[in-house]
Amino acid sequence: MREYLDAERLHVVRGKGCWLEDGEGRRYLDGNASVWTNVHGHGDEELDDALRAQLGRLAHATMLGLNHDAASALSAALAGLTSGRLSRVFFSDCGAMAVEVAVKQSLQYWQLTGRGERRRIVAMEHGYHGDSFGTMALGGAQGFHDRFAPWLYRVERMPAPVHEECAGEVRESDAARSLDWLDRYLAEHGRHTACLVLEPSVQGAAGMRQQPPGFVAAVAQRCRAEGVHLILDEIFVAFGRLGELLVSEAEGVKADFVCLAKGLTAGYLPLGATLTSEAVFEAFLGATSERRTFFHGQTFTGNPLASAVALKNIEKLRRPGVLEGMRRRAQTLGEELREAFGGHPNVAAYRQRGFAACLDLRPAGAGRSWDADLRAGHRVCLEARRRGLILRALGDSIPIVPPPSISDDELRFLITTLRASLDAVAPGLPDFTHFQ
Ligand SMILES: Cc1ncc(COP(=O)(O)O)c(C=O)c1O
Repeated sequence: MREYLDAERLHVVRGKGCWLEDGEGRRYLDGNASVWTNVHGHGDEELDDALRAQLGRLAHATMLGLNHDAASALSAALAGLTSGRLSRVFFSDCGAMAVEVAVKQSLQYWQLTGRGERRRIVAMEHGYHGDSFGTMALGGAQGFHDRFAPWLYRVERMPAPVHEECAGEVRESDAARSLDWLDRYLAEHGRHTACLVLEPSVQGAAGMRQQPPGFVAAVAQRCRAEGVHLILDEIFVAFGRLGELLVSEAEGVKADFVCLAKGLTAGYLPLGATLTSEAVFEAFLGATSERRTFFHGQTFTGNPLASAVALKNIEKLRRPGVLEGMRRRAQTLGEELREAFGGHPNVAAYRQRGFAACLDLRPAGAGRSWDADLRAGHRVCLEARRRGLILRALGDSIPIVPPPSISDDELRFLITTLRASLDAVAPGLPDFTHFQ
């Protein structure tokens, strides 16, 4: 907080399209889509209208024992994303809760179906699922949650696969270590395992760490064979981020739970959703005296305003040509990245899939890193901000996560500004030659 308080602060007063504006009328390209949420840009007229129309009817009513049109319509639309296979939707109010709900439902399901010995939980190395206690335990993102480790429940950690790709060009790809571990683990503990939690395709907070194509399907097939629930956290990757509505559907993966938030409302309002099957739902049915109820109720769960805007978001993404356009522009992003940063002396690695890209920075010369306290990545982002581009570093990695509605010209502005910022900052940083 000291660094934040001492630095010049940026107060955003309005947004239009991919741009944010401060009180002095300076404009900034939103290069991290307001923490990976924004889909169609800020101030989108159709989303604004959908919100206003709902505001005229109902701003909020509890979903604990009641229902309302907005959430009903949205749950039908969400079920439609899996062609009705995951027909049951549990609403919450953020990504962490969407994941916690899935894990709790899985654990309760096994208890309700007489298989309470299924207690183990598997999650992937480098994962990030939120900052609540339940999701901190699942996460394997180093540094964020170490302080709370003594209070976290036990999770088995599957190694993450290795994959580096940009504009469809693959530099490295290996899933064997990961899948071998899973085979061995399931052979020994499969019958005592409740669920496996995974961010499919790209692990955002791990610095856009990628998985080889087919990896999620391979994990899904192994989980199914052992009867282990597969929980896919699509909070970051869905709704256009990787050029699809749902990544799992696009890859033909049939998960038991799909968790959604962030882009669900196109980045307008907080909303979480956990999708699951009729079979899981039915385990929770019974007389009150049987105590099968899923006791998890959040005050603003399924808020009508958030639901109305989410519904319009899905309608917009389903229109002919919209996702195709996003996929085409994502390819442009990859090509521009390669052009600007391939062989750059301060870029150790770069990768891109959809609108999830990342640069790993380093001092010129191989095998070294900057001292972490130098905050090299943060400095580059501050320089970019001076030049009209908002980015947010993860250590010395710079995620590039613009709204998928970004235009080709805006993409070029993003890349050239980032390149100019890196070139302005990196040569001036003291090089402590830390050998790795
Ligand atoms: C994959 C993933 N899951 C869960 C979360 C947590 O979402 P929220 O901040 O809405 O709780 C995030 C946030 O970055 C995420 O990237």
